[in-house]
Amino acid sequence: MGSAIAIAIALLLCFVFLIHGQNHHSGKNGCDWFIGSWVIDNSYPLYEATDCPFIEKEFDCQGNGRTDRLYLKYRWQPTGCKLPRFNGEDLLKRLRGKSLLFVGDSLSLNQWQSLTCMLHIAVPQAKYTLVRTGDLSTFTFPDYDVNLMFSRNAFLVDTVSESIGRVLELDSMEAGKFWKGMDVLIFDSWHWWLHVGRKQPWDFIRDGNHTYKDMDRLVAYEKGLKTWANWVDNNIDTTKTKVFFQGVSPDHSNGTLWGEPEANFCEGQVRPVRGSIYPGGQHPAEVALKRVLRAMSTTVYLLDITTLSQLRKDAHPSVYGHGGHRDMDCSHWCLAGVPDTWNQLLYAALIQH
Ligand SMILES: *[C@@H]1O[C@H](CO)[C@@H](O)[C@H](O)[C@H]1NC(C)=O
Ligand SMILES: *[C@@H]1O[C@H](CO)[C@@H](O)[C@H](O)[C@H]1NC(C)=O
Repeated sequence: MGSAIAIAIALLLCFVFLIHGQNHHSGKNGCDWFIGSWVIDNSYPLYEATDCPFIEKEFDCQGNGRTDRLYLKYRWQPTGCKLPRFNGEDLLKRLRGKSLLFVGDSLSLNQWQSLTCMLHIAVPQAKYTLVRTGDLSTFTFPDYDVNLMFSRNAFLVDTVSESIGRVLELDSMEAGKFWKGMDVLIFDSWHWWLHVGRKQPWDFIRDGNHTYKDMDRLVAYEKGLKTWANWVDNNIDTTKTKVFFQGVSPDHSNGTLWGEPEANFCEGQVRPVRGSIYPGGQHPAEVALKRVLRAMSTTVYLLDITTLSQLRKDAHPSVYGHGGHRDMDCSHWCLAGVPDTWNQLLYAALIQH
């Protein structure tokens, strides 16, 4: 009887261990890196934008006249453990001979740009080249034989021109051909699915044999993601290619989501939301993304950055994005800033595996 109980307990422990082992979010000791809070750390920021000579003007908030600096001083602190310290030279050595490709919209550009700055700061004497051809940007460290690429692709699935107009095809994905030879792939998509009017780059949506004038955008997003997921399941060998998905990056354009008046948005915000919980709750696109990832046969590592970024209402460019007061930008992130944390998490995940 006693041994039966002992066996039952042993089986239960094995089971708990297995479940833990399958949690892609966790660090070595089972701690979830994506649950935590922002704490002030005076050793931050990790770099000054002025030390990153190739930084895009739209992310250079200080250069564009932002004068408050508290938002630069926050470090992400997971609740149960410490995030490994980012070591740019170590990352370059680990990536020697390899190519890393970000595929996605301007939030993907934001993260790629952050990573190129973080690596340049780590090895300021090392040569680098930056080549832009069409929608592809390639940043190379020749001494380390490392390519860091960004391919602009807002929907992942295709848009084709036909006699009726531009058609967003939810079940077609031609761009994948180009992704196959990469060592690390980091995808993102969301923001463009919401655009309407002048900013909407399609006239019809096609789903299977049906062509629609429009449809529920969240439903369309999930269908597009499923096409991407099927492609990855059928084309990616994870012993050669590591696949990441950058979680949904949140906007801050409605104060009710963080307990302020509805008219408040990112402008003038100088502090993150306190604590670990975003009052506005889970982002609907994040829920859809997680559902698609769970149904995949391939192991895709979700950089689950939605909640930690939701807490950073203070870290958007607002009027300090395009160098003038032309646009209010509550979607992208200042650099140095939040995408540096996304890259610390990317680094932590890469060195763990
Ligand atoms: C689409 O149309 C083709 C040809 O008419 C048909 O063979 C196919 O089954 C249809 N697919 C769906 C999903 O309805
Ligand atoms: C802001 O969010 C609240 C709560 O979700 C919602 O009721 C309201 O319609 C939103 N306002 C705008 C302008 O989107």
